[in-house]
Amino acid sequence: MRRRPLIAGNWKMNGLVETALELVDGIGSGLSQREGRQTSCEVLVCPPFTAIQTVNKQLSAKGYNIKLGAQNMAIEEPGARTGEVCGIMLRNVGCHYVILGHSERRQFYGETNEIVGKKTASAYRDGLVPIVCVGELLEEREAGRTIAVVRAQLDAVMPHLPEESGKRNNLVIAYEPVWAIGTGKVASPQQAQEVHAFIRGHLSEKLGADTASRIRILYGGSMKPSNAKELIALEDVDGGLIGGAALKAQDFLGIIDGAA
Ligand code: PGA
Repeated sequence: MRRRPLIAGNWKMNGLVETALELVDGIGSGLSQREGRQTSCEVLVCPPFTAIQTVNKQLSAKGYNIKLGAQNMAIEEPGARTGEVCGIMLRNVGCHYVILGHSERRQFYGETNEIVGKKTASAYRDGLVPIVCVGELLEEREAGRTIAVVRAQLDAVMPHLPEESGKRNNLVIAYEPVWAIGTGKVASPQQAQEVHAFIRGHLSEKLGADTASRIRILYGGSMKPSNAKELIALEDVDGGLIGGAALKAQDFLGIIDGAA
């Protein structure tokens, strides 16, 4: 089954209002120049909370064909949770997607598999499409534990998926080997395909073959224009979650070209 590739920019903690505008204009105008060619893939940017509304307004004003997402969300609904931002607020400023369980959140902010599961439920409750990140540390890979780690990360999310197959089919998984994030070390095509194929097989076991064949599985970790095409061409790789190279319009566009 042909899945529409998703190219998602994770801006992380980067982007003041001015630079966010400049970046989205650079990406948007580049896409406009490409016209029909780009329609084969879906393009998403995930700015920091403080720039989401600015980007949202610019997307509406200019009519760019770019979707908007956030990098995290609270489990709870609106209320007394100082410092948190919930899904309803994200929807209110134009977000369709939310990245959940990124390795930096797991590593630096104590997000466990259990928390990521609960956030997945909250995302669906609030009408957002979750992009659930999974991936092993270098020592886990070296100890031969990659598949076990990824399986546990996936299994924590499964009980929190909605019953409706239409919604389940929208789920996005991002496989991001932690040792490849921001390091310039990219997984080889064989390493990436092996884990992506495991993920699809596991989803098929848990959710059925039809749903598994529709769920997009992104690769993330030092993706750039020079390696994007080869990675995205792999059978079970349906796009990318891009950090560093998403901060330069030309690089991000180069990756989009690799998926088109
Ligand atoms: P990177 O980050 O592209 O800079 O490696 C990817 C990510 O963390 O999502």
